[in-house]
Amino acid sequence: MNSIRHDFRSDTVTRPSADMRAAMAAAEVGDDVFGDDPTVNRLEQKMAGMLRKDAALFVPSGTQSNLLALMSHCGRGDEYIAGQKAHLYVNEAGGAAVLGSIQPQPIAHQADGTMALDEIEGAIKPDDSHYARTRVIALENTFGGRVMPMEYMLAVADIAQRHRLGLHLDGARAFNATVELKLDIATFTAPFDTVSICLSKGLGAPVGSVLIGRQDMIDTARRHRKMLGGGLRQSGILAAAGLYALEHNVERLVDDHRRAKRLAEGLRRHEALEVSRPETNILWVNAHAGIGERFDAYLAENGIAVTGHYGQQRWVTHIDVTDDDVQGALALVDKFFAK
Ligand SMILES: Cc1ncc(COP(=O)(O)O)c(C=O)c1O
Repeated sequence: MNSIRHDFRSDTVTRPSADMRAAMAAAEVGDDVFGDDPTVNRLEQKMAGMLRKDAALFVPSGTQSNLLALMSHCGRGDEYIAGQKAHLYVNEAGGAAVLGSIQPQPIAHQADGTMALDEIEGAIKPDDSHYARTRVIALENTFGGRVMPMEYMLAVADIAQRHRLGLHLDGARAFNATVELKLDIATFTAPFDTVSICLSKGLGAPVGSVLIGRQDMIDTARRHRKMLGGGLRQSGILAAAGLYALEHNVERLVDDHRRAKRLAEGLRRHEALEVSRPETNILWVNAHAGIGERFDAYLAENGIAVTGHYGQQRWVTHIDVTDDDVQGALALVDKFFAK
């Protein structure tokens, strides 16, 4: 992978900046399993404060954060409702089923990425010994780079409330949504009992996510984090990167979104490419079958790294993608089509 010149694979490929590394090196630390790490405590308090929730828990990854949330809401044999393409259902190795004995109830997405409200409500099981007990509905926002509207989240919250279910948000990229909606993160996450936010995606930290929510849920999650081997010791070194990211890298997400739009405009000039309208930092590109394989190979040979392949490529902008990267990549794509 040394030949990559323009890396659009994911916002997880970012490397900590010199200033972030300096903050990590200077972090005050202690044993976080004893609750002694002042930097982890500061990060958890800051996140809980920003979301105006009771408590927060620093964890190694978004996958663990989502799993801990589901395990806090559900016991063995219970059920969670999530989108058919939700990351926590599709891309987390079935952890909820394997490690939590929790059954998923997936719901199809509509064209706009939302789940139909009547389908969500229809999937909630009655209190009957034939069925698993539905305990929680999980939403994801942003979802594939799209911003799910606040009204949708509130409507799902209303269903959850009426059926006495929990509500979880996989907000891996929640700040990408809030800078776009110009909403503060507390308002955006207000309907949820638990929220998972990744520090190691658009925010540019090397490691870590935070689960934020109701005190009882976070207490249970802390116990499960230990059980899953996620209790870390002097993790203030990592939390310092997260604090740095929250202080310096949230507002700048608009630059990633602007660059994604610029990329989309440049790619769309070529008729053989169907390009989504990026709402945040992710765009989807469909190269027509006639040129698809050649286009995939050309990008790889020329150091433009994306994920997926020609039927559906994913291009992601992030803190290590500059205006020059965007221009450079577009110039190379122009060259392909000029041939
Ligand atoms: C929406 C979403 N949720 C959760 C995760 C999991 O995060 P991690 O890779 O830190 O486990 C990802 C990772 O890409 C994601 O995109």
